[in-house]
Amino acid sequence: MSSLLHQRPLHNTLTNPSSLSPRSPSDFPKPSTIFNRTSLLLLLSLLVILGVFVPWIGLPQGLFTSSRVSISKWKDYTLAEAVANVAKNGTVVVCAVSQPYLPFLNNWLISIARQKHHEKVLVIAEDYATLFKVNEKWPGHAVLVPPAPDAQTAHKFGSQGFFNFTSRRPRHLLQILELGYNVMYNDVDMVWLADPFPYLQGKHDVYFTDDMAAVKPLNHSHALPPPGKKGRTYICSCMIFLRPTSGAKLVMKKWIEELQAQPWSKAKKANDQPAFNWALNKTAGQVDLYLLPQAAFPTGGLYFKNRTWVQETKGMHVIIHNNYITGFDKKIKRFHDFDLWLVDDHAHESPLGRL
Ligand SMILES: *[C@@H]1O[C@H](CO)[C@@H](O)[C@H](O)[C@H]1NC(C)=O
Ligand SMILES: *[C@@H]1O[C@H](CO)[C@@H](O)[C@H](O)[C@H]1NC(C)=O
Ligand SMILES: *[C@@H]1O[C@H](CO)[C@@H](O)[C@H](O)[C@H]1NC(C)=O
Ligand SMILES: *[C@@H]1O[C@H](CO)[C@@H](O)[C@H](O)[C@H]1NC(C)=O
Ligand SMILES: *[C@@H]1O[C@H](CO)[C@@H](O)[C@H](O)[C@H]1NC(C)=O
Repeated sequence: MSSLLHQRPLHNTLTNPSSLSPRSPSDFPKPSTIFNRTSLLLLLSLLVILGVFVPWIGLPQGLFTSSRVSISKWKDYTLAEAVANVAKNGTVVVCAVSQPYLPFLNNWLISIARQKHHEKVLVIAEDYATLFKVNEKWPGHAVLVPPAPDAQTAHKFGSQGFFNFTSRRPRHLLQILELGYNVMYNDVDMVWLADPFPYLQGKHDVYFTDDMAAVKPLNHSHALPPPGKKGRTYICSCMIFLRPTSGAKLVMKKWIEELQAQPWSKAKKANDQPAFNWALNKTAGQVDLYLLPQAAFPTGGLYFKNRTWVQETKGMHVIIHNNYITGFDKKIKRFHDFDLWLVDDHAHESPLGRL
């Protein structure tokens, strides 16, 4: 009997739960003389029938219709609408995510929420499951730019699917620039330890970070570094800030061209980063480029591998990138080991909650 009373509030949210929730026995009304055994049993049966059937008759229908409405709504949601909805002060922070990366998305979001910049985050969903999941929990903060790439292969680093998926990035970014917004792009295997915006000094077109692990002096130059062994630089395509200038648009157009000129091949197993570096190399004379400080934006090849350097630069770190390692499990373990895996204990800080 009391177990039935315990269960009802879970099913029927329309009834005031406190009226049926278990209290101390003395709170229950004393059986009055009007209620004999039979009428009590009748009343109980009625409660049981209501408790069992009402949710099945009433709720599912409502749920299905409302989710159908929101599904068609989000399917037609355009990048222009999404950016207009989430941008703050003419600026958006974007990432591109497929379903396997959702735990990383949440981890990244928690770290951004701590810096109070989450409201301007737009998730570019690379599959419909991600689009619906994010918008269900956080309406308006995810958009899908069709066509959605093949979800099965999209997350294997070095595969053609991964190349196809990352190749879409400069197109999304160019479109946001054409709409007139500043845009910061981040990979989601990143964690913010501080607010990066104060570091975006001056009025440069494109801001980026070096992916080289070699330690530089704290006062290193902000110019594009000299080319490395392969004749090109190793700038990371993981964290880019762009102002809606003709220079920034030119870099994005060049990046798209470079990706088309050097498509994925079995031998090279490239990702989008070399093409980005060639685009910077070829536009350097016409565009105002700005290299962000290494101590604030270190590559994973430095931050996770040189404890001496981490100690020396303590308090200066702003965004940490979990790269120079492949595989979900290894990345998660490494974040764990460095106290940067926030989703297990701090999911309530994410605008998505626990996923
Ligand atoms: C808004 O943007 C301008 C220019 O991009 C910047 O100088 C200003 O600090 C920003 N304001 C806020 C409140 O973020
Ligand atoms: C990647 O894109 C190319 C060119 O559009 C296409 O032919 C190929 O099937 C795609 N491969 C995968 C795995 O998505
Ligand atoms: C950095 O500081 C060192 C020593 O103070 C100086 O010799 C060097 O020129 C500086 N480099 C730049 C790029 O300012
Ligand atoms: C572009 O790359 C070429 C070939 O490696 C190199 O000679 C040149 O200095 C680079 N230009 C810039 C601006 O980095
Ligand atoms: C690690 O960092 C220290 C301190 O900055 C530096 O002197 C050393 O060369 C670095 N080690 C490697 C392997 O890069």
